[in-house]
Amino acid sequence: MSGDGYFYPDVGDKMTGETVERFGRTRWALEEAYVLNEFRKIIGSSDLTVDAGTGMGRLIPYLRSFSRKVIAIDRDPMRLSVAMKNFDFEDVFFAQGRIGDLSFIPPRIAGVVNCSHVFQHIPHYEVLHGLAEFQRVLKVGGFLILLTTHSPEGDKYYLVEQEGSVEVSKEEFEKAAENPVEGVLPVRKFSVEGIVKLLKDFGFELVKKYYYHIMPGQYPGEFLEVLEKLPGNSVTPHEFHKLVEEPIVKEFTEHFERINGDEESARKNSIDIAFLFRRRE
Ligand SMILES: C[S@@+](CC[C@H](N)C(=O)[O-])C[C@H]1O[C@@H](n2cnc3c(N)ncnc32)[C@H](O)[C@@H]1O
Repeated sequence: MSGDGYFYPDVGDKMTGETVERFGRTRWALEEAYVLNEFRKIIGSSDLTVDAGTGMGRLIPYLRSFSRKVIAIDRDPMRLSVAMKNFDFEDVFFAQGRIGDLSFIPPRIAGVVNCSHVFQHIPHYEVLHGLAEFQRVLKVGGFLILLTTHSPEGDKYYLVEQEGSVEVSKEEFEKAAENPVEGVLPVRKFSVEGIVKLLKDFGFELVKKYYYHIMPGQYPGEFLEVLEKLPGNSVTPHEFHKLVEEPIVKEFTEHFERINGDEESARKNSIDIAFLFRRRE
């Protein structure tokens, strides 16, 4: 499989892995699993779901849990080939390409588009093309799951390396996102109001949002210790409903909901945001 020369600069997810360790592996996975499980309750089911920027296919099992068919797309052929090997199912179809050009998918055919942690690493024009394509391929009333990093201080741009990160200008970010260098990950942190307004301009209404990946120190230490004894990496959203009945997980998610109940504080104390949007008429 050949691509267009693009590769995702955090090869093997090394730098992301370090952030995850800092937050605690189990808690990191649980928060996202909880949020995606809540979204699934609202979505119900989907005939066709598009995973836009699937990476190594991490969320394919979750998407399969409510979809009849999944089309998984990524621009980086290496990462896509890992996804293809790991998730070789009859109901999952793979394509190498850009979210900004989904011309092989007919209009108004998808029930759900999932775009997880892609927008934060790509040039702004590609965000715009991606949104136009999501709007085109989704049925009226179809859902867009959008996960990304955010900043309480408006749009911010960084170059993240193993040694640390530096804040850069929008122009430097755009250049780095266009010309990947191994080990230098361009990261954009979105203003929440800005992204909601942008989505509105593209014909989407907000259904639900959660601030997640809450900074270390915001949960009672005692239950974090117990949580870390849970199965860690294998806390996946498609099987979250089994875990939620565990008293410790219940306590954890109640605390997470409480944190989200105070928007200002949740925004200040989290790095990621999960949105569920619906395509309007
Ligand atoms: C942080 S990873 C997220 C992967 C996956 N969605 C997840 O949540 O685990 C970002 C992915 O977006 C892909 N990507 C970057 N630009 C893209 C584009 N324009 N179109 C499609 N995929 C893109 C990268 O190759 C990478 O696999």
